[in-house]
Amino acid sequence: MSRAGYRFSRGILNTISPPIPQAHHWASCYKATADRPLLDMSQGVPGLSPPLSVQKALGEAASSPSSFGYALPFGEDSLREALALDMKHAYGPDADIAAADIALTSGCNLAFVAAIMTVADAGDEVVLTVPWYFNHQMLLSMLNMHMVVLQTRPEDGFMPSIARCRELITNRTKAVALVTPNNPTGAIYSPALIAEFAALAHEKGVALILDETYRDFITTGEPPHNLFSTSLSPVYWRSTLIHLYSFSKSYCLPGHRLGAIVAAPEMLEHLKGVLDTVQICAPRPIQLALAPLIPELRPFIKEMALAIKSRHDLFRRSLPSAWMIGAQGGYYAFVKHPFKDVTASQVCERLAKEMGVVTLPSAFFCEGKASDGTKVAESEEASKWIRFSVANISDKQVIRVCERLKESETLLGWSLE
Ligand SMILES: Cc1ncc(COP(=O)(O)O)c(C=O)c1O
Repeated sequence: MSRAGYRFSRGILNTISPPIPQAHHWASCYKATADRPLLDMSQGVPGLSPPLSVQKALGEAASSPSSFGYALPFGEDSLREALALDMKHAYGPDADIAAADIALTSGCNLAFVAAIMTVADAGDEVVLTVPWYFNHQMLLSMLNMHMVVLQTRPEDGFMPSIARCRELITNRTKAVALVTPNNPTGAIYSPALIAEFAALAHEKGVALILDETYRDFITTGEPPHNLFSTSLSPVYWRSTLIHLYSFSKSYCLPGHRLGAIVAAPEMLEHLKGVLDTVQICAPRPIQLALAPLIPELRPFIKEMALAIKSRHDLFRRSLPSAWMIGAQGGYYAFVKHPFKDVTASQVCERLAKEMGVVTLPSAFFCEGKASDGTKVAESEEASKWIRFSVANISDKQVIRVCERLKESETLLGWSLE
């Protein structure tokens, strides 16, 4: 056996391993046939390639001698300017955002790493909503930070409670991290709720980290929130907000690793050291390719968002009545399974292995280890929920998934609640 002859960090030993391979393993056990192919609603990845204009521009940028060197630490100015303008489009014309507020990162996960490392130390507390986006929880655990659980509940549509959050903040708290639209629940926090969190964070002197990876999939026509607006925000956003963005989903290019942090220039000054250390710069070709195309890609993103919204509607209409949707939005629907005395993990395993329907159980977003190594487990009620992704699947497949869920009610042999 080849064992490493050295020791590993406490942070790594106390961190769960990424849960997705488990679902891949279940899926690999399914015997697909032409009539009954595997149906995968587990993946939070875009179902499309980016438009040809992006593919062509990326090819040219990648082979241009100007993109082989390191970029400036905050990325290409052309893309920072294009993103600042695009954000006025998303958050309203009076959004007070300048290129100087923006740092480009190698994806939004790295944006979270850099933001957390800039504001918190080992031993500090960071409030996370649960169910969590597992990489957020894993990072806090790796860095020996204390994750403080802000439980969200089905009866509240998985919206976090501001009153509960207020009780959780102590003088060791450095940040409250929210994801909206949420992964895994799909809950979309209202501008009013986000404003309350900003006001609370401001009052308590902690950072509000807002991961808005899925913001372009809000189809209400209203801005996701008004924090950037000089007239509508309850606080001056630069005093409190650290906004995180991902180009992966909106522009369909997760493999090219591009994200952004939008924060006060003082924060960016401190962040510079982290970014220089962990990434030096984000990949250049994709930045150079995207910068001039951002305005003309808006219709593509809008069309994709509307297609995903209509797939959500189809999923809601087609889901058998015993299965209950708790929240829905962005890429995800969070659904309570109807079986008695079994956990979502058991249901997801059998759905994948026997019915060819791949989904993720709530345990993947609730179970972990705290920084002191103690286990964080989900409650009995929380253990009933399953994440379905509608992003990387066709409308026809959504209907077939719902047919198989109906069949599972008899074929799996479990009694219904
Ligand atoms: C909430 C959230 N943040 C960040 C990411 C990762 O984004 P990126 O590909 O830009 O690192 C994901 C991907 O699923 C996500 O769901």
